[in-house]
Amino acid sequence: MDEGLQDYKEQQKSINNFFPRFPNKPNFKGKNILEFGCGRGAFSLNLANEEPKNIVAIDTNPNYINFAKKNLNTNFHQHKNKINFLYQNINDWQTDLKFDYIITKEVFEHTLDLPKVLNSMYKLLNKNGLVLAGFGPLYNFFNGDHGYTRAILPWFHLLLPNKFLIYNANRNRENKIKSIEQLGLNTYSLKKYREIFNNSEFEIIYFKTNCTSNKLAIPFKILSKIKFLEEYCTFNIFIVLKKK
Ligand SMILES: C[S@@+](CC[C@H](N)C(=O)[O-])C[C@H]1O[C@@H](n2cnc3c(N)ncnc32)[C@H](O)[C@@H]1O
Repeated sequence: MDEGLQDYKEQQKSINNFFPRFPNKPNFKGKNILEFGCGRGAFSLNLANEEPKNIVAIDTNPNYINFAKKNLNTNFHQHKNKINFLYQNINDWQTDLKFDYIITKEVFEHTLDLPKVLNSMYKLLNKNGLVLAGFGPLYNFFNGDHGYTRAILPWFHLLLPNKFLIYNANRNRENKIKSIEQLGLNTYSLKKYREIFNNSEFEIIYFKTNCTSNKLAIPFKILSKIKFLEEYCTFNIFIVLKKK
């Protein structure tokens, strides 16, 4: 249980920043919710206090799901019948379950086949159901490689050849990688995300970039208004998608 506790505590810290970045927070009372990419489960455990009918939280990392299940059973008895943590790939999920909301925080930049995932989400939602997604840093931002390539200097993961980044990332790695995607980053540009959301079956009812109250981000917010800098100065996206 101690293993991953630090990681879990980090996930807990960012929970309160999520909903204020949307125009309004839905009333989750009596609703069925899916959390996509729940990690160690901190967000769903928090959401369970909002009296939803049920929460299913899925992730493709079995260690995270084991942690979340143990934590639920040991420390959150009151939510035991409300949350189900599942080791599950959304694209292979054979289920009759339908949801009113799909919530996903800091996952879409790691989602390797986002168009397919959006398609799966569409099928899992009830009519008029919503996806609320907030994610970043985007790959073209200064730290968009999440530090995984060890490029060290800002934006250097974009300047250095991928071959070198992969070589660098493989130093001291047991499981060697052959592409940046194998580090768990889709490397999508802001332009590509726009294209993917526009081409999905969903109606986009909210789309906002660079959402934060951190004053240090102000220069990026300003620079991102300049067309040719927008791609490199946009760090996150908050979006609401509606099933028609
Ligand atoms: C940065 S963590 C965010 C975890 C959690 N949502 C949070 O905000 O603390 C990204 C999570 O997405 C999960 N993930 C990545 N691709 C996924 C996919 N296709 N399906 C489900 N989970 C995925 C990873 O296993 C990881 O737990």
